Amino acid sequence: MSDTPQITEQAVAEAVDAALAAISAAGDSTALRSARTEHTAEHSPLARLNGAIRDLPGSEKAAAGKLVGQARARVNQALAAQESVVLAAEEQQRLAAEAVDVTAVPSRRRTGARHPLSLLQEDIADVFTGMGWEIGEGPELEHEWFNFDSLNFDEDHPARAMQDTFFVEPVERHLVLRTHTSPVQIRSLLSRPLPLYVVAPGRVYRTDELDATHTPVFQQVEGIAIDKGLTMAHLRGTLEHLAHAMFGEGAQIRLRPNFFPFTEPSAEMDVWQPNAKGGARWVEWGGCGMVNRNVLRAAGIDPEEYQGFAFGMGIERTLQFRNDMNDMRDMVEGDVRFSQQFGMVV
Ligand code: FA5
Ligand code: MG
Repeated sequence: MSDTPQITEQAVAEAVDAALAAISAAGDSTALRSARTEHTAEHSPLARLNGAIRDLPGSEKAAAGKLVGQARARVNQALAAQESVVLAAEEQQRLAAEAVDVTAVPSRRRTGARHPLSLLQEDIADVFTGMGWEIGEGPELEHEWFNFDSLNFDEDHPARAMQDTFFVEPVERHLVLRTHTSPVQIRSLLSRPLPLYVVAPGRVYRTDELDATHTPVFQQVEGIAIDKGLTMAHLRGTLEHLAHAMFGEGAQIRLRPNFFPFTEPSAEMDVWQPNAKGGARWVEWGGCGMVNRNVLRAAGIDPEEYQGFAFGMGIERTLQFRNDMNDMRDMVEGDVRFSQQFGMVV
């Protein structure tokens, strides 16, 4: 510690002047904080002068105390005054930085929209919920049992090869990327009370090559209805209703006998395409039929009491027919100009 300072009017005035100069020069709260430390804290000149009073003879203490006390009061006052100036300025700066110009023109950059296939999937679901159907769903990574066995595909029935399957390792787990949405039929039968009316749109996978009418990853919409007294006529009426909702009141469909292990009788459903490339013709839209009695029995349902129909249509095909598109590949390329033509619906 240096020597005890002499308490003189000059020493006090110098300490005060230095403090006031530093205080008025402090333009922000950080600078003001260091001025306060330097000029009023423990080892500052004023603090040391104040400490020196203790060592004075009793007769001088009062005068010295008054001198130093007034000096400290002046400095503290200056600090307080400068503090309010600095804080107000800082508040102004903060407000200016945070200000929002409500008259500013916003950026018009498009941030994206939903894909037409997702929108169409919802439109289809709406047609069915409008008739009181429920929406069902199942996993895309599906157990072979749901995808095939429960749907009456025999272990080595050639029908298993009808749909070229992506098997997922390890093979002992018997998982596949579902090849159709039909496993949702079984999931619905096992989990819902009767009667049931379920529609289940979703993504499916096949080892198909990408071409104008096929993609290896595509979407289907499955429907299953189980009730007393359902017939092919109900199936046909339902499909016609959907065709009209999708393609307009003039749309025509045709059922052509076919084979699916989980329906009996089964049909392939075609839509009349007046504007098809190469001339007007029938084009396949999906498969359908009356739910096979074996499938009902496997789900614990008495086929004498309940009957049902099911169908599964391609959603890419639906979009293709609906918008007269020749090439399905445009849908999967991810070019935003494709989606923009359908309106940028979020
Ligand atoms: C089925 O997948 C059956 N599960 C349909 C079914 C459901 C029958 C319920 C009976 C009862 P299919 O393999 O035909 O059937 O496929 C149905 C539709 O999916 C086809 O008509 C077509 O519209 C669409 N589709 C099939 N493969 C592709 C593909 N690679 N790319 C795009 N769409 C496809
Ligand atoms: Mg087919």
